Amino acid sequence: MKKVYLETFGCQMNVSDSERVSTVLARDGFEITSDQLSADVVIINTCSVREKAEHKLYSHVGRLRKKAKLKMPVIGVMGCVAQLEGETLFKKIQGVDFVLGTRAVGRISNAVNETLSGRSGYLDVGEREDDYDWTVADTHRHSPYVAFLPIIEGCNKFCTYCIVPFSRGRERSLTASDIVRQVLELRRNGVKEVHLIGQNVNSYRPQTDSGLEQFAGKSAFSRLLRAVAATGIERVKFTTSFPRDFRDDIVDAIDEHENLCNWVHLPVQSGSNKVLKAMKRGHTIEKYLAKIDRIKASPRDIALTTDIIVGFPGETEPDFLDTVKMVEYCGFDMAYMFKYSPRPETPAYEMSDDVSPAEKTLRFMELERAQKHSQDRQLQKYLNKVLKVLPETASSRSDSGLTGHSTCHKIVNFEGSNEMLGQIVDVRITEIKTNSLFGEVIK
Ligand code: 5AD
Ligand code: SF4
Repeated sequence: MKKVYLETFGCQMNVSDSERVSTVLARDGFEITSDQLSADVVIINTCSVREKAEHKLYSHVGRLRKKAKLKMPVIGVMGCVAQLEGETLFKKIQGVDFVLGTRAVGRISNAVNETLSGRSGYLDVGEREDDYDWTVADTHRHSPYVAFLPIIEGCNKFCTYCIVPFSRGRERSLTASDIVRQVLELRRNGVKEVHLIGQNVNSYRPQTDSGLEQFAGKSAFSRLLRAVAATGIERVKFTTSFPRDFRDDIVDAIDEHENLCNWVHLPVQSGSNKVLKAMKRGHTIEKYLAKIDRIKASPRDIALTTDIIVGFPGETEPDFLDTVKMVEYCGFDMAYMFKYSPRPETPAYEMSDDVSPAEKTLRFMELERAQKHSQDRQLQKYLNKVLKVLPETASSRSDSGLTGHSTCHKIVNFEGSNEMLGQIVDVRITEIKTNSLFGEVIK
């Protein structure tokens, strides 16, 4: 039996694709191994959203070549870099045997088999097959209790800095009936928390309404949320939301269904209208803040997280200070912050990258400070509160510790036994750290 090792970089969509690739390969007679050195085939699932992410592929193949002293494994590249680079990857990286694009992952066994039987330069950056099977076998999920379920793939937004519309193609939504069927199956198999995922999860728009309840004037996404909540699965989370399509009816649905979790990830990218316009985000800062106000007004105490880019072309010091001000206003529980990284082929690549690297670093550090300050204050609200936590793994920090996530998507560490894994427990928060909370289980 040939052994396959998978290395995954990037977003949840990549994690989800890797889970499906493992499922397909295992079904077709391969063994999925966690030991890279003994693998006959190494597949690298790549991310290209920033230059740094793309470099991980190059250094990973380099390391692999150094380590594999006796026999080089077959090396396959999938994911966003594979889709964007295609054939040129064979020239760019010595040792790559096959390249499989983002919509070709269903044909993974073909790529591996053909390469193992001697074919070189196997390339497939074609479209998804009509009968593509989205299911993941229980044993190949990243967690027995938490499942990622893609409901929409691709992106039509073309924000000027972003490579995703090129690497993931146009938006395509799964049918609601298919999603509900999968959630019911996950629930039957012991999954407690399902994450509906998509580059713009709330832009969900299936071609038919079948499986969606009719609520006049409500978006397809909020109706899907209600349908998924009605399956009775214990927790539903969703990410990533696109501000322009984030309507009040989504918050209404959360307010009305306890199993829709109290966490929204809503990337803002900048606090300056001038920069937002140059990014073609399709929202002004005023519109974004109005959505934040609606979310904050919810009785569910919804936690907010975001993404921010500093140093976009043309960003001046006053523009940047608008971002700092916005961060202080919003009170994000967490913000993922990035220095602008020009990506070839995107419209912003043609703009002058006129914020110097030193200035980008300074702004990044200042924003980090502002966010940390706001976050420290924000997270204090959890102290002494009781949160519902799903223990997912034994903690790496102590022998008797468990780690899981709250409904508001905080990492929570606490003392507990392994029998608690997968069982939602009440935890009183006793200590707040920057990126996680500590607490004790209430009997
Ligand atoms: N440079 C820096 N950050 C980027 N992101 C996307 N493209 C770029 C880029 N070219 C960030 C955005 C997005 C997150 C996933 O990555 O903040 O929301
Ligand atoms: Fe990229 Fe914008 Fe699409 Fe998000 S919405 S994936 S930032 S183009």
